[in-house]
Amino acid sequence: MKTTAVAVLLLLSSSAWGLEGTPLALGETLFEATSLGTNQKSCASCHPGGEGLDEIAVYDDDQLKEMINFCIRDALKGEMMPLESQEIEAMFLYLRHSSLP
Ligand code: HEC
Repeated sequence: MKTTAVAVLLLLSSSAWGLEGTPLALGETLFEATSLGTNQKSCASCHPGGEGLDEIAVYDDDQLKEMINFCIRDALKGEMMPLESQEIEAMFLYLRHSSLP
């Protein structure tokens, strides 16, 4: 059910509306934002071009969201977010579906 909704969303967002203002675009913005944490770093500081993210294919969806949260907490010194938050969902979609490896 959930997977279908995501697939539909992706289809809509990439074809009909372009990328701007979609969850994928939000995910990219957040990936590059230093505002998620407190140490002036962004995800992209340590994972430029998807570096260090080679293993994400082996994580299931919930595990991947948790990894995102762990990096927010440990690597960015930020506050973990609810796993169903729009922000986690957007970064999750970005990692799964962008051209990052
Ligand atoms: C200070 C550096 C640093 C920052 C900033 C950082 N990470 Fe990480 N991240 C790591 C390290 C180190 C690992 C472990 C990598 C490994 O096992 O090769 C990791 C692992 C991961 C993994 C698991 C990848 C895998 O292949 O095992 C994900 C997903 C991830 N980070 C996402 C993020 C996201 C999303 C952000 C921003 C919220 C972020 N990271 C910010 C250093 C960082």
